[in-house]
Amino acid sequence: MKPVISIEQLSFTYAGSEHPAISEISVTVKPGEFIGITGPAGAGKSTLILCLNGIIPHFQHGEYRGRVRIDGVETLTMHCAEISRKVGSVFQDPEAQIVASTVEDEIAFGLENFGVEPDVIEARITDALQRIGIEGLRHRSTTELSGGQKQRVAIAAAVALRPEILVLDEPTSELDPLGTKEVFEVLKQLNREYGLTIIVVEQKINILLEYIERLWVMNGGRLVADEPPRRIVNQPELLTDVGLQIPPVSELMYRLKAAGYYSGELPLTVDEAYWALLKCRGGKR
Ligand SMILES: Nc1ncnc2c1ncn2[C@@H]1O[C@H](COP(=O)(O)OP(=O)(O)OP(=O)(O)O)[C@@H](O)[C@H]1O
Ligand SMILES: [Mg+2]
Repeated sequence: MKPVISIEQLSFTYAGSEHPAISEISVTVKPGEFIGITGPAGAGKSTLILCLNGIIPHFQHGEYRGRVRIDGVETLTMHCAEISRKVGSVFQDPEAQIVASTVEDEIAFGLENFGVEPDVIEARITDALQRIGIEGLRHRSTTELSGGQKQRVAIAAAVALRPEILVLDEPTSELDPLGTKEVFEVLKQLNREYGLTIIVVEQKINILLEYIERLWVMNGGRLVADEPPRRIVNQPELLTDVGLQIPPVSELMYRLKAAGYYSGELPLTVDEAYWALLKCRGGKR
């Protein structure tokens, strides 16, 4: 299958900065993949997202090397409007992204900018609200919404534009665990039902590993690991080497394994940990 995104030897140094924010990243993404990005502060996660949605190199000055191709076409040679038709973006702070006074107008705004016909706009708004499960918010004022609702409106506005790829930079940073789970349920559904390719930056490693298929770990501007969640928890050093931790349930079983009480695969979720604990036996100590 042809990659939907292909990144080749990508490096970027912000104008005025001495060190590259990202260095020599090479990776490809297949259509329909659900990828998480994590890493410590300053690792280059947001910079990589900006390279995917074309803000780098089109709006951000700096030294840009390498290539990003979307559907085989280099973003450097594409118009920004063309990139934004393929790559939808959701940022950390929905306040900064939401511009209209009602939810309906917010979703219509991007569609109007794309020159979508008015009668089609109506159908697209209904469809996007249904896909995200927020039909009830349609006529609400955007200022009255909770943080989780705003995030979902921002996702609906991006999805209404029918991108092939959705990139999200810490979309749950303002949300409690329940709001976070709700956003990830929406992403899972968009990925499974509509085959949307999703790349999400997220600090909450527990939730990330439960939902995604592939994790990119970044550190110091480099992509230091690219593995499925199960490999990540079974090789905790991939995270601990960059100052992050595997989920507590995986950590518990890791320690029981090290002490000789358990010999299977490390669990990713509480349910899996429950079954793993039932398999534990008397250990060495
Ligand atoms: N606009 C900018 N101008 C100059 N340097 C920048 C700019 N934005 C980011 N940087 C630098 O680039 C590096 C990577 O930053 P980036 O924001 O991509 O990291 P991050 O992994 O998203 O971090 P965080 O977890 O804090 O969001 C850091 O050293 C940061 O200081
Ligand atoms: Mg960031």
